[in-house]
Amino acid sequence: MDLVIKNGTIVSGYQEFQADLGIENGRIAAIGGNIKAGEELDASGLYVLPGAVDVHTHLQMPFGGTVSADSYEAGTRAAVCGGVTTVFDYAIQRKGKGIVQTVEERRGLAEPGVCADIAFHCAITDLGNEGELLNEFAGAAAYGVSSFKCFMVYKKEGMMIDDGMLMRIMEKAGETGILTNVHAENPDAIDARIAGFLAGGKTSPWHHYLSRPEFVEAEAVKRAIHWAKALGAKLYIVHLACKEGVEAVAKAKAEGHAIFAETCPQYLEFTSDVYKREDGRNFVCSPPMKGPESREALWKAIKLGVIDTVATDHCPFMQAEKDWGKDDFTKIPNGCAGIENLYPYMLSAANAGRISFSRAAQLCAETPAKLFGCASKGSITVGKDADIVLYDRAKDFTISVSAMHSDYDQTIWEGVALKGYPVKTFLRGSLVYDNGKYVGKPGQGRYVKRSESGCL
Ligand code: URP
Ligand code: ZN
Ligand code: ZN
Repeated sequence: MDLVIKNGTIVSGYQEFQADLGIENGRIAAIGGNIKAGEELDASGLYVLPGAVDVHTHLQMPFGGTVSADSYEAGTRAAVCGGVTTVFDYAIQRKGKGIVQTVEERRGLAEPGVCADIAFHCAITDLGNEGELLNEFAGAAAYGVSSFKCFMVYKKEGMMIDDGMLMRIMEKAGETGILTNVHAENPDAIDARIAGFLAGGKTSPWHHYLSRPEFVEAEAVKRAIHWAKALGAKLYIVHLACKEGVEAVAKAKAEGHAIFAETCPQYLEFTSDVYKREDGRNFVCSPPMKGPESREALWKAIKLGVIDTVATDHCPFMQAEKDWGKDDFTKIPNGCAGIENLYPYMLSAANAGRISFSRAAQLCAETPAKLFGCASKGSITVGKDADIVLYDRAKDFTISVSAMHSDYDQTIWEGVALKGYPVKTFLRGSLVYDNGKYVGKPGQGRYVKRSESGCL
């Protein structure tokens, strides 16, 4: 055995228990007592958790007239410093490009400097004149990309999938073991509301919220669920943020449909009131934060198992870029930082008694790994990769951009106080984060070749 982590409290499945954990060749080799190894680490008083799997990020993504502020290296460095050891990025397929070709291009950008293990979903934007892209689905799944995203919005950005395309994608996805992910908002309603606000000179960030309120998201969530049910397709709703959407997911699940839902920490922490703040533009993301009823519904859905995963939608922009929209919310690049805050935030909620530590680990590690076909990730189990986080319940931490490990220069999480914090992260047995410092080697992250998605 190379290393034994002794005397920690292991969080696994539905329980917490006191045991030692042995690591050999980057894998979890033993869990129990009296494990002998070349090196020992005393984890008395610490929780031993699986590394988190953040299944929703946009690293160095061209978007909103610029490129998101975190490179693959910076974003994944920040990830491991917050206990995320596997990062899923969205590779955006563009007109005329193939799916594997798109992902290979992004891998080429990512892999030289990546600090966490990395997997990709592909966001489909164009099926080709004859729908030829549909013929690539099986090949993409075999290559390890077994989930595709459909943006039901972003028409002017050339990323939107209309209902006809969504139907064709879902039909083919079902045949090829692919899970369809949707960003659900109604684009026509948004455009109509924006036009009205601009004509009336209403340009503050608050009007970003008013242009995409609860019912705009709820309609699209219900429409996506309708198509999934009608076609017998599996569906994963990304960044679910509204109460009516939660209710629709709960109903579809209760009827026995394979409908899965993700929310993000920003929707659990903030409400639409943030858009009235002086720095409201920094919170502009889509869908926007919603009212307090939606926030409460999301927490309830987490407890009841209606929400399956919590991921970040990490898509940071620099302050100067957010400032483009100081006087016009439509010019603000959409997206916020969060990759380093996901696990500490959810574990802090566990530490405060809001959910259990096991539930936090399920939402952030175990279920995303299972749902997206990462067999060697997601839990403290013999044989899995030794992606491990040591967590100190007694270490209080207040989030500040200066203490983060990304490239961005502002964060919506500034000043948020957490109860407890990760103190060490291991990636396949190697220490990559130690008490506030990144100690890994850029480039040590590996591509994760996934199996079928959408099975729990
Ligand atoms: O505002 C957001 N969420 N930006 C990233 C792209 C997306 O919609 O997921
Ligand atoms: Zn989205
Ligand atoms: Zn996103």
